[in-house]
Amino acid sequence: MTSHEHSPRRWLRHAGAARLEFGADYNPDQWPREVWDDDVRAMREAGVTIVSLAIFSWARLEPRDGEYDFAWLDEVMDLLHTGGISVDLATATASPPPWLTAKHPEILPVNREGATVWPGARQHWRPTSPVFREHALRLVRALATRYAGHPALAAWHVNNELGCHNVYDFSDDAAVAFRDWLRARYGTVEALNHAWGTAFWSQRYDSFAEVLPPRIAASHPNPTQQLDFRRFSSDALKEHLRAERTVLRELTPDVPVTTNFMVMSGMNPMNYADWAAEVDFVANDHYVIPGPQARDELSFSANLTGNLAGGRPWFLMEHSTSAVNWQPVNLAKKPGEMARDSLTHVAHGADAVCFFQWRQSRAGAEKYHSAMLPHAGTGSALFRSVTDLGKRLRDLAPVAGSERTPADVGIVFDWESWWVSEHDSHPTDRLRYHREALDWYTALLNNGVRTDVVPTGGPLERYRVLIAPILHVVPEALAERLRAYVAGGGHLITTYFSGIVDENDHVWLGGYPGALRDLLGIRIEEFAPLLDAESVELDNGTTGTLWTDRIDITGEVEVLARYTSGEYTDRAAITRRPVGAGSAAYVSTRLGPEGLTSLVPALLGPAGVVSELPEALRGAVELTIRGDHWFLINRTDAPVGLDGLPGAPAVLDARAVVVLKRD
Ligand code: GAL
Repeated sequence: MTSHEHSPRRWLRHAGAARLEFGADYNPDQWPREVWDDDVRAMREAGVTIVSLAIFSWARLEPRDGEYDFAWLDEVMDLLHTGGISVDLATATASPPPWLTAKHPEILPVNREGATVWPGARQHWRPTSPVFREHALRLVRALATRYAGHPALAAWHVNNELGCHNVYDFSDDAAVAFRDWLRARYGTVEALNHAWGTAFWSQRYDSFAEVLPPRIAASHPNPTQQLDFRRFSSDALKEHLRAERTVLRELTPDVPVTTNFMVMSGMNPMNYADWAAEVDFVANDHYVIPGPQARDELSFSANLTGNLAGGRPWFLMEHSTSAVNWQPVNLAKKPGEMARDSLTHVAHGADAVCFFQWRQSRAGAEKYHSAMLPHAGTGSALFRSVTDLGKRLRDLAPVAGSERTPADVGIVFDWESWWVSEHDSHPTDRLRYHREALDWYTALLNNGVRTDVVPTGGPLERYRVLIAPILHVVPEALAERLRAYVAGGGHLITTYFSGIVDENDHVWLGGYPGALRDLLGIRIEEFAPLLDAESVELDNGTTGTLWTDRIDITGEVEVLARYTSGEYTDRAAITRRPVGAGSAAYVSTRLGPEGLTSLVPALLGPAGVVSELPEALRGAVELTIRGDHWFLINRTDAPVGLDGLPGAPAVLDARAVVVLKRD
C-alpha cells in the first residue's frame, strides 16, 4: 500500500500515514557488524524513516564473477525493518568491482584526449558498453529477485547520480552508439550533413561510418556535432536508466523506481527536463556552492526540481549536514543553516529530506565529508541539530503530499540553451547561462515576488510574466509558442544572445535576435560583448557588463532604458513592445542581481504582478506556498520581525524557516 498517492506518479511503497521522510545514504559495509545495531538505535533517535542502501556495494555483493553474497544485506534489511526504517535500495551498479575491470578493461571510459579512465575511484564505466550493461543488469536481476518481497523495500534507486563522472565517453563503443543515435535522428547522411553544416571546413561525410565523437581536434570541433554529442550522451545514460528500470518493473511492478538527479548550478550534462518522465518520482541531490548567491542557488535548484516533478512531491536524496570534501576549501555550515537548507527543499515540494551520508566514513576519499552522525559521535552539536530537524519534519507531516502552488512569474530554464550558449567559438567565452538565470531569480526574491523556475517544455502559458534569460536555442515551434503566449496577453522578458539559433545551431538570418526579432520589435546587426574590465552605464542608474547590443527599433517599442556611456550612448538598452494586453521586453546587457533588482518592478508593473508579502519582509524573506501552507524562509543572517502576519511568531530568527497554516 502506498502511504499517499501522487497520481499519475507513484511515491514510496510503505504502509503508514503520510509523512515527510528523513534519512541518508547508509553504507554499513564500511563498518564492522557491531556498529549496525548502534546505527539503527541512533537512527531511531534522530527520527530517520528511510535510508538509501548498497549504493557502492557491488564488490561486496558479487565478490567474484557471478557469485553473490547477500547474507550481510539480508541482515541489514531485516535490522532496518525491525527498526521501522524503510529502504530505498540501490541497484549497486555505480562502481564496478575490480574483478570486472580486470577481466573486461573494455568497459573503461576513454576521455576526449584518448586516455583511458582507470579504476580506482568510482563510475569507471562506459554508458554504452554492452559488456558493462550485461553485467550490471545481471546484478539488478539478482537483487530484484532476492528483495522483491522484502517488507523494508520502499523504492529502487537506479545506479547513482548517473553521469556524475562518466557522462562524456569518447571510446569506440561510444562512437558506434553515437552513429546509431545519429542514424535514428537523421535517417540519411545527407540530412546529417545539412544539420551539421559540413560544407564548412571540408567536413562532408559520405557515410555514418565516418562519423566520430568530437574527440580532441586541431581547432574547434563542429558545433552541431558537439551539440548532438551532448544530446546523445544525455540519452545514453537515460538508456541505461531505462534498461535497469525494465528489469525492476518486470520483477517488482509494485515498487517505484527512481534515480538521483543533480539539479544544481555546476552540473549541466544531463537534460533532466527530458529525464523526468522516466522515473516514478523525481529525486535530486543538491550541494551548496559557497558564494553570495549560495542560498538563492539552492532555492533555484529546488524550485526547478519541483517543476521537473510537475509540481508533485519529490525526494531530496542527498545534501550535506555541513562541509563537503570536494571543494578547494570545505566550509562547515553555520548554526541554523542545515535546517534552513533542508526546509527550503521542503518549501519547494520535497517530501523527503536525506543526506549524504548516515555515518561519517573513517577511511576513503569522503572521510572529511560531513554526515548525520559525525566522527565525534552522537554526543555532538551536529547530531543534536540532526535530531532537532527530524522532530521538525515529524511536526510538518501535514505538509506531505501537498503540491506547490504555482507563481505568477516563471523563469524559463532550457538545457539546450545552457549547452549551446556556452560553446566555444562564440562572441565571448565569459557568458554563463545559469548565472544569468540565477541573477533574475535573486532579483525577484529581492522584490519579494514568488517565481517558478520552469523547463521549456513545462506549462509556460500559465504565467503572467515569463522571463527567458539567454534563450539562445529557439526552434520555430518555440518561437511560435512565445508569439502565441504574448498575443494571448502574456508578458515575455528576454535578454542578450536569445533567439539566435535553431535546433541545429544554425543562425536565424536577417538580424538578431533572430527568431524573436519581430516579436520584440528590434533588430541588431552585430554582437558587442565587453572586455572584463569594461562596463556601461544606463540612464536608469544600473550598470551593464559582459555584453551590449546596438539596437535598432523596428516596431512600436518603448525604450525603458538607454545607454549613457560606451559605444552606444543614447541608444536603447532595454526595450518593451506592447502587444495587445501582453508585451515583449528585451534586456541587452548583463545587469547582475543588483541591477535586475531595481529593474524588476518596471517590468512586472504592466503585468500587475506584485509581492504577496508585507512590504517590510520583501527581500529578507522568501515565500513559497504548498497547498494551505506558507513557508517563510529568512534569507539573511539577522532576525526579521513578522509583525502583522496572521498566525506568525513575532520574529523569524536568522536563517530560520517558519511554516504557517493559511485558510
Ligand atoms: C554525491 C554522491 C555521493 C557522495 C556525495 C558527496 O555526488 O552521490 O556518493 O559522493 O556526492 O558530496
